[in-house]
Amino acid sequence: MIHIPVLLNEIKAHFELFRSYPNPIYFDGTFGRGGHYRELKKMIPQMKAVVFDQDPEAIKYAHQEFSNEITSEELVIFHDNFANFEKHYQGPIDFALLDLGVSSPQLDEAYRGFSFYHQGPLDMRMNNSSGTTAADIVNNYSEKELADLFISLGEVRNPFRVVRAIIHDRDKTPFVNTKDLSGMIERVDGWRRKGFHPATQYFMALRLAVNNELQVVEQVLPQLMKRINSGGRLDVITFHSLEDRIVKNIFRGSEELGEPLFRKVIHPTREEEVENPRSRSSKLRIFVRK
Ligand SMILES: C[S@@+](CC[C@H](N)C(=O)[O-])C[C@H]1O[C@@H](n2cnc3c(N)ncnc32)[C@H](O)[C@@H]1O
Repeated sequence: MIHIPVLLNEIKAHFELFRSYPNPIYFDGTFGRGGHYRELKKMIPQMKAVVFDQDPEAIKYAHQEFSNEITSEELVIFHDNFANFEKHYQGPIDFALLDLGVSSPQLDEAYRGFSFYHQGPLDMRMNNSSGTTAADIVNNYSEKELADLFISLGEVRNPFRVVRAIIHDRDKTPFVNTKDLSGMIERVDGWRRKGFHPATQYFMALRLAVNNELQVVEQVLPQLMKRINSGGRLDVITFHSLEDRIVKNIFRGSEELGEPLFRKVIHPTREEEVENPRSRSSKLRIFVRK
């Protein structure tokens, strides 16, 4: 499935003021398939963009789809975690977007190992050229480490039966594939809520741990805000309550860096949720640089 950019109308509306800037600089830490970038570029053709994605597939796509803009240096692309952005770019920024989490192609491609609906390797690395996989965690963490992980990052209340089953089963055969794990969780925990696969929260916890997602957000937001020009904006889309909590509280006590434009979080409209069910859990927060 092609990736549909979420909360696009809301993002455009809050970045519209940069239309009057002569050459505003846009920073996109989560380029994906460039869905937001493409629409913002249409709205603000004079903008220049500095973008990151840690997924080699996203970078390959960007070079294929946006080669004209790359050649004319309107678009500068880095294949790296946006946590390392200062290694590559130290210039000013007028407006920035972090659309956190995974893209539809990552979820839909079985070989990436993000989805319990497709049989694939238990991988879940956004940057699949290096680092720890979900299988490494499942097969090597201690009983306590696994339970802590599922409780803290998956918000699973009682993961202990599943954890014991992991420890028991992996002795005979290590977990290698997504469905080996999701099938076992289904058998042990059973279905409690219609339409909500019992493995959902376990997979979420593994994904967040594999990609170190929460720590990255906590570390980068203040760094990024410091780079944004006075009056500039940072928009952050999250899909996970723990992540949203981090974003919500990030500038508390350091208001000189930036302040939320609105006290309340922005949700997708009912129409967007119907058109793109993957937008359902998304939340947008907008910060203005002092
Ligand atoms: C939700 S998608 C972004 C979709 C994009 N806004 C679009 O409209 O096409 C998230 C993308 O960000 C990337 N990503 C997530 N966390 C990242 C990080 N810390 N550093 C670099 N890329 C990251 C993922 O690989 C994925 O391609």
